[in-house]
Amino acid sequence: VNGADDGAFARHLLEFFTRLAGGDFTARIPRNFRRDHEDALAFMVEVVAEQLAKKQQSHFESEAALASLVEKFVTLAAGDFTVRAERTHRGDTLDTLAYLLNNVSAELGDLVADTDHQRMLLETVLESMLDGVLLLDSNGNVRRSNAAMAAMCAPKIGAHVSEVLAKDEHELASQLSHMRAHDVFRQRDTFFVGPEGDRLPMTVSASAHRDVHGELVGVVLVARDDRELKKARAHLEMTERLTTMGTLAAGVAHEINNPLAFISANLDYAVEELEKLANKDPSGPLVEIVRALSASRSGAERVRHIVRDLRSFARSDAEVITHVSLNDLCDSALGLATNEVRNRARVTKEYGSPPLVLGNEGRLVQVLVNLIQNGAQSIKTGAPAKNEIRIVTGVMGDANAQFAFLDVHDTGCGISEDDLPRIFDLFYTTKPVGVGMGLGLSISLRLVQTMGGRIDVESQLGKGSRFRIVLPAAPAETVPPRSPPRTSGRHRVT
Ligand SMILES: Nc1ncnc2c1ncn2[C@@H]1O[C@H](COP(=O)(O)OP(=O)(O)OP(=O)(O)O)[C@@H](O)[C@H]1O
Ligand SMILES: [Mg+2]
Repeated sequence: VNGADDGAFARHLLEFFTRLAGGDFTARIPRNFRRDHEDALAFMVEVVAEQLAKKQQSHFESEAALASLVEKFVTLAAGDFTVRAERTHRGDTLDTLAYLLNNVSAELGDLVADTDHQRMLLETVLESMLDGVLLLDSNGNVRRSNAAMAAMCAPKIGAHVSEVLAKDEHELASQLSHMRAHDVFRQRDTFFVGPEGDRLPMTVSASAHRDVHGELVGVVLVARDDRELKKARAHLEMTERLTTMGTLAAGVAHEINNPLAFISANLDYAVEELEKLANKDPSGPLVEIVRALSASRSGAERVRHIVRDLRSFARSDAEVITHVSLNDLCDSALGLATNEVRNRARVTKEYGSPPLVLGNEGRLVQVLVNLIQNGAQSIKTGAPAKNEIRIVTGVMGDANAQFAFLDVHDTGCGISEDDLPRIFDLFYTTKPVGVGMGLGLSISLRLVQTMGGRIDVESQLGKGSRFRIVLPAAPAETVPPRSPPRTSGRHRVT
């Protein structure tokens, strides 16, 4: 080896180490393949540089994989449980971390889906409940309510329970704001404030809302709207009262009927006999006596009609269905409603030829009396000549479907468009206490509907109304032949 070569080699070596120190692993010393020391050194340099380059490459790769893994952990922490890392299956630290990430992400995903499902279940149960539910915090402020509660009184979130309850229910409001962990209220009657500031009767139950550690966090209040229940109860009471009154009326009518029969018969007999004598002596006192007795006879006749109508009205034989003539029915009903109508309107009848209908006579009289009474009550007292209750009967439909109809017209106050949809509601009345109960139309509609019919209404505010009952004609094959008029022999009865 000569000196010049040594110098060149030493420069190569120096350059190589300088580049190596600068991180450049591509530097090489040219080999001479003479298998001398220089060649051996150049070979060693090549091997070392390659090893270092490899190490650097793998270092770069690990850095990138680590950065990607960190990013995935951040995504997971942000709540994306679908994130997954690619595995190398080399069993090194990075691969273990990727495995952990995938497992944690999948487990968390399942857990959250399950929690979501449970939450949705609870939510839908709460919203589907018929009873109103109110969750209060431990100070009695509304935290949430369900749909049923919102429909009843629309409580505001954050409002104090005393704003939900009626003003005079402050004692309950205070109890609800100071509940202890084991306090319970069951079925307490109270009033809520309705959307229009009205009082809503409610039955409430309340219990403490405790967390998993048993600590009080608020109150769960369940409220039931009592209006329907109370209406049903009142209806039942009223029906019972009406039934009792009906039975009583039927009893009284029955008791009157027998003595009345012989009073009438004896009056007929007396008038007939006295008339004969009076005819013989027209200037004598008997003429006046006959006139007085005749007046009594027509009085007795009226009593007989009233008793008959009362009996048909009071009969509780709802299931007895017969062929009914609407024209005959009108006369009975008018007889019963005379008192109501007398001072308010004159009555006009326009009877057509309605077909017979199948129904319960007593019930239909009840319907008609209510319609006539309603018509009369819509007219102020004092001007009967200027007002009218007009009853019209007739036939409608065609040969395939024939109907009998009966109209009750009045010239009364009429019904506003707002009120019209509510008049058939049970207990809906615009009349003062003691005059109306709001029962008439709802009962009438039910009765007519059970007979396959309907009630139509037309009304003009300030002008009057028309209520029309429409009932299907009795099937032709069931209509009985007209019986010959009954002949009544006059004789003395004792
Ligand atoms: N012919 C009518 N003219 C004007 N308003 C009427 C007429 N008929 C019914 N109404 C209205 O409908 C309401 C309900 O009538 P409904 O017969 O059901 O009850 P009511 O007459 O008030 O009481 P009840 O029949 O129990 O004595 C009445 O209060 C009245 O406001
Ligand atoms: Mg009425």
